[in-house]
Amino acid sequence: MLRTGLLYLARHQSLRRWLETAPSAGRLTSRFVAGLTLDDALAAAERLEREGILASLDHLGESVTSLDEAAAARDEYIEAIERLSGRSPRSTVSIKLTQFGLHLSEEACRANVDRLMRAATRLGRMVEIDMESSEYTERILQISSDMHASYGNVRAVVQAYLHRSEKDVERLCGLRVPVRLCKGAYQEPATVAFQRKRDVDANYVRLVKILLERGTYPGLATHDEKIIREARRFTRERAIPPDRYEFQMLYGIRRDLARAFAAGGYRIRLYVPYGKAWYPYFMRRLAERPANLLFLARNVLKG
Ligand code: FDA
Repeated sequence: MLRTGLLYLARHQSLRRWLETAPSAGRLTSRFVAGLTLDDALAAAERLEREGILASLDHLGESVTSLDEAAAARDEYIEAIERLSGRSPRSTVSIKLTQFGLHLSEEACRANVDRLMRAATRLGRMVEIDMESSEYTERILQISSDMHASYGNVRAVVQAYLHRSEKDVERLCGLRVPVRLCKGAYQEPATVAFQRKRDVDANYVRLVKILLERGTYPGLATHDEKIIREARRFTRERAIPPDRYEFQMLYGIRRDLARAFAAGGYRIRLYVPYGKAWYPYFMRRLAERPANLLFLARNVLKG
């Protein structure tokens, strides 16, 4: 119930406008968001790389309302990629296609992604294309695999909660597209997604095994220790070396685990969000773990 309510609020535009401009925004969001500017995100990526942790920068924003905004998002990402050069050699960027205008014009979105891909390829960077709500799944996967076919440096994302995901994983393995596997963060109906946590978790384990055996450098994006233990057991059983995959986690969540991975010789990448449009991302993090509301309340009360 609480999860559904928080995901509903995540789409609430007037609450969003009010909170994103509130003077205390930085204090509310600092646990999950690296800062409001690209400089903040670059500093976080540098700090992480010094600890042996990789980063993927996410300039927050989704469902832009004009193609001008989409072009501005593209330019921000090109700048991020250019400024990562020489500072954090192994970091990537993560983009959302509704931030690049997918829902306004697929053609314009493809042109924006293409411009970014050219810059990324010139600078030897990988681009990860986040997955959004199910109305976009097919289009996002198609654009991700087309861009990978043209440039060879794209990671697609698959959500374990969708019924269709096993077929998608098989298709992406066949095309040799690297996949980030996550559970899925949106509110989806039973017609398209598993509703019970145990079914989502079981599907995650099924898909992660396919990716570890037949995928190209998969990213295992989860903080779920039971699943992580099972994935590690599977890699030992099949003698899959730790440089054939990476773990991925979100900035600010389970920092202890991330550090332990790096210290244990595993590859670990943190998804590092930054920017002023933090509200929908932040609300999805609250929905995943309503105990985070206590953390939020403490920060508000601190004044
Ligand atoms: P689960 O929700 O079962 O949590 C397992 C444990 O992790 C919890 O018990 C708790 O300890 C910790 N935890 C999880 N979430 C927490 C939170 N918000 N605050 C505090 N602790 C928390 N989704 C999507 O739809 N599209 C995408 O492109 C991506 N991309 C992405 C990248 C990366 C690197 C990660 C890690 C995740 C995503 N996600 C995503 C989000 C993902 O779908 C999912 O909602 C969250 O990762 C939470 O699921 P877990 O796998 O962590 O399991």
